Amino acid sequence: MTIVNMGRRGLSFFFLFLMIFVSCTSSLDKDQKVRGLIVENAIVVTAREEASAIGLQILQKGGNAFDAMVATELALAVAFPFAGNLGGGGFMVYRLADGSIGSIDYREKAPLAASRDMYLDENGEVIPGLSTLGAMAVGVPGTIAGIFAVHEKLGTLPIEEILAPVIKLAEKGVVVTKNQAQRLANNRQNFIQVNGENTFFAQPFNEGDTIKYPALANTIRKISENGRDEFYKGETAQKIADFIQSNGGIITLEDLEAYEAKWRDPITFPYKEFTVVSMAPPSSGGVTLAQILGMLEDFDLASMEHNSPEYIQILTEAERRAYADRNFFLGDPDFVDIPVKELISKDYLRSRIADFNPNKASLSSDIREGSIQIVESDETTHYSIVDQFGNAAAITTTLNGAYGSKLYSDELGFFFNNEMDDFSAKTGVPNMFGLIGADANAIVPQKRMLSSMTPTLLEKNGELFMVVGTPGGSTIITSVLQTILNVVEFDMSMQEAVNAPRFHHQWLPDYVNFEPNGFSVGTLEILKEKGYQINEGYTPILGKVDAILVLPDGKLEGGADWRGDDKAVGF
Ligand code: GLY
Repeated sequence: MTIVNMGRRGLSFFFLFLMIFVSCTSSLDKDQKVRGLIVENAIVVTAREEASAIGLQILQKGGNAFDAMVATELALAVAFPFAGNLGGGGFMVYRLADGSIGSIDYREKAPLAASRDMYLDENGEVIPGLSTLGAMAVGVPGTIAGIFAVHEKLGTLPIEEILAPVIKLAEKGVVVTKNQAQRLANNRQNFIQVNGENTFFAQPFNEGDTIKYPALANTIRKISENGRDEFYKGETAQKIADFIQSNGGIITLEDLEAYEAKWRDPITFPYKEFTVVSMAPPSSGGVTLAQILGMLEDFDLASMEHNSPEYIQILTEAERRAYADRNFFLGDPDFVDIPVKELISKDYLRSRIADFNPNKASLSSDIREGSIQIVESDETTHYSIVDQFGNAAAITTTLNGAYGSKLYSDELGFFFNNEMDDFSAKTGVPNMFGLIGADANAIVPQKRMLSSMTPTLLEKNGELFMVVGTPGGSTIITSVLQTILNVVEFDMSMQEAVNAPRFHHQWLPDYVNFEPNGFSVGTLEILKEKGYQINEGYTPILGKVDAILVLPDGKLEGGADWRGDDKAVGF
C-alpha cells in the first residue's frame, strides 16, 4: 500500500510556505507539478487515514467502489464523528466503468410532526438555537438507508464482510489528532449543555489519546447482523425515537419507518470539452455549479492570472447571481417545482451575466443585507473513490454543523444531525451559513431540506476525468468550482488544485471571503476600489477538498486536503 501523508499544517502558515513544504514532501513530475499520491489501480481519499485505509482494504479484498463506500461511510462515523455519521445523511454521485451514471439521495427529512413555523416564537421571530442545538434540530437520518440502498444495487461483497473492519476500528479505537482535540475542546460546553455532564464527550481529550467506541461498535454490529431495518424498524429504531423524544424532540418510530433513500438522476451539463455530473435537488450543488460554470464559459479564464482581481471578480459576479437563484428557486423536488432546465440553459445564463461590469461591483441587494457571517467552514465531509474496475464514486455526507445538533446517544454511540437548520425557518432570515431562504425551502413534514453538498464527477472525451467534493456548508459549491477550474483552466495537478487558496461569495451577505494569508493586500485593495466588500473579520479555511484526477496515462492522482487530516491511499 502506498500512502502519502500531506500532514496537517496550522492555519497561520502562509500558502507560499505550504507550496514549498508540499513540494518537498510530494513528488514533482517532469512538468514540475506538485503531485499527490499517484497509483495504478484504485484510490480512496477521505478526511481520516483510518477511514481511507478501510475503504482501501475493501477494494483490496476484491470489493468495488460501492462496497468501499459502505465501509468508508461508517468508518468516518468512527474516525471522524465531527461529520461522519449514522445520525445524518448525504449524497453519492457515481459513474460505472461502462459510463453509466447515477446518484442517490439519503438526505434527512423533516419529521411528520414538523411544521412551517416550528422555529418561530409567538411574535414570529426565529428562536435562537432551536434549529441548531439539541433534539428539536434533528432531521430523520438517512445514512443507514443510503448505504444499504447502495449495497443492494451496486455492491458485491456481503455486508458483514464490509462492516467487520469498521466494527474492529470502533472497538480498537482511534487516536485523537491535534485538529480533533481542538474540535472536541471547542464543542465541549455544547456537548454538556445538550447532554449533561455525564455524557461521554464531556471529558477532555488530548492529542494522542485513543478513543474507543464500544457503544458504536455494538450499534454497527446489530445493523450488520439485522440489516437496515435495525435502524428504521428494530430495537435500535425504538431506542432512537425514545432518546430523541426524551430530549424534547419530535422524531417518532413512524418517522424512521417511513424513511427511504431515493435514486435520482444527476444534473449533467457541458463545460467546454468536459461533461460535469453533479447532484440534483434537494442539493443545490449541481444546479448552482452549472449556473456558475455556464456564466463563466464565455470568459477566457485561462488568460487571466490565477486568483488575480480580474479572476476573483468574474467568479464573484457569477456566484452572486447563481446564489440569488439558488435561494429563491431551489428546494426538495418532491415538494416544489424547480425550473432546472431553464435555470441552467445557456441563453438564461448569458442574459444573467450580461450586466457584468469589469470596473464595478454589482450590489447583491437593494432590499436587505444578510447579517450573519460564515463562522465555521469545515463541517460535513467528502470522500472520493475510484476502484480497480473503473467505477467512481463521489460522496458527501453530513451532520450539518460540527457534531450536528451535539445531541449524542451514549447508549448508541453516535451524534444526531442538526439538518433542520438547512430549511428556511423564516423567509429572509439567514441560517447558520448566512443563507437566506424562500418558500421553496420552507419546512413541510417529510420534506428534505435544501443542501449545498456537491459531490461531482467530470468526464473528458467520454472517459472519467475527475472525482471531487468538499465539506463547507454554503462554501462547498464555490470550493468545488475553484478546484475544477484550477485543473481545467490553469492546468494544475490534483494536489495543486486542492492546495490553492480559495475565496467565496454567496450573494448575501454581500461580502467576499478569502482564506487567511492566501491573497495579497494589493489584490484585496484593487477589489475594494471596485466596490467589493471584503470580509475583514475572522475568515476560516474554505472546505477540505478530497479529489481524484485521472492522468493521461490512466494512473490516478489523489488530492488530499492539507487543511485537515485528510489522506489519499491506493494501490
Ligand atoms: N448541511 C450542509 C449542506 O447540506 O449543505
